[in-house]
Amino acid sequence: MLSLKIVLALLPLLALANAKVNSPPLGHYLAGHYDDVDASSSVSSLLEKLLLKLKEEHYEEPSARIIDGFDVQGVDNAAYLVSLSLTPLVYSHQCAGAIIGKRWVLTTAHCVEELRSFNNGIIGSAIYAGLANRSNVSDAQVRYVDFASSHRSFNGNAGSDNIALLHVTESFVYSARVQQIALPDLDEDYSGKTAIAYGWGLTDVDGDEYSKELQYAFAPLLNSTRCAELLPSDAPLTKNQVCAEIKACYGDGGTPLVYWPISGPAELVALGSWSYMPCGYASRPTVYTSVPTYVDWIYQVISAYYQLN
Ligand SMILES: *[C@@H]1O[C@H](CO)[C@@H](O)[C@H](O)[C@H]1NC(C)=O
Ligand SMILES: *[C@@H]1O[C@H](CO)[C@@H](O)[C@H](O)[C@H]1NC(C)=O
Ligand SMILES: *[C@@H]1O[C@H](CO)[C@@H](O)[C@H](O)[C@H]1NC(C)=O
Repeated sequence: MLSLKIVLALLPLLALANAKVNSPPLGHYLAGHYDDVDASSSVSSLLEKLLLKLKEEHYEEPSARIIDGFDVQGVDNAAYLVSLSLTPLVYSHQCAGAIIGKRWVLTTAHCVEELRSFNNGIIGSAIYAGLANRSNVSDAQVRYVDFASSHRSFNGNAGSDNIALLHVTESFVYSARVQQIALPDLDEDYSGKTAIAYGWGLTDVDGDEYSKELQYAFAPLLNSTRCAELLPSDAPLTKNQVCAEIKACYGDGGTPLVYWPISGPAELVALGSWSYMPCGYASRPTVYTSVPTYVDWIYQVISAYYQLN
């Protein structure tokens, strides 16, 4: 169990472990257990440990896996998407977020916790915008965090308020590759609609590297009744979360789910939060932080920031 716990602590999507087919969850292995983490271990060596662990425990092979996504050709449709680097020194994708203003990025509190824990602080963390192909980041707009606010009710658990706002030192320069995304209306209900997810997370449960090329997948949004039916009865679902029928995986934490209305700009529906392991297992939906629920919170944080600065 130990290596599983370590891996989950460091990796980007809050994950809930499930032992074997037809047996109840082993327990909730959530973020926040950093005691045994060797900070020098690379993400891929941690992943290796996880995969070994999964194999040891004879997990049933899940169906091949944003898992089942497609390569994105160009970045025009995902210009709001950013990649948060594990360290500011060298680019290493850890989790994702969305540009919601020239100096504001919305992501998950879990993602912020991981960067904070790895670097002993969140200030100075690097955010890469305008990136589709992670093999070559020379054209990316790199910005550094100078203010961060995680929701104060986030406690590391999958059911808590997994959302955070980051402010960066210098404005993004908007272009075809870098744009902000519109926030939804407060409490807008997207269930029954199909969103699009973009991400660089693992494309294969047996993979050991995050995807270099941006992937996308269609993500049908479920209502809460349907989601609860598809997840174990003790799943920590709340009304501030939304489920999508998509197989997200490590590296997809904070990944925006986007809805394109027939006319008008794309809207930010949700941010990748947690799923059961192994990724894509039993076609269980992935659980996202529902952005419409937090629109007031977002405006409060932003206005408090400008009152103080
Ligand atoms: C991504 O960049 C690498 C290195 O520059 C290149 O080899 C690869 O073909 C690129 N992939 C795409 C889809 O452009
Ligand atoms: C990366 O992209 C830049 C700008 O597009 C280009 O000049 C450079 O040759 C690329 N590097 C590699 C290794 O492909
Ligand atoms: C929830 O979704 C299911 C499946 O799409 C549908 O059958 C059901 O009527 C929906 N329930 C509500 C309350 O909308």
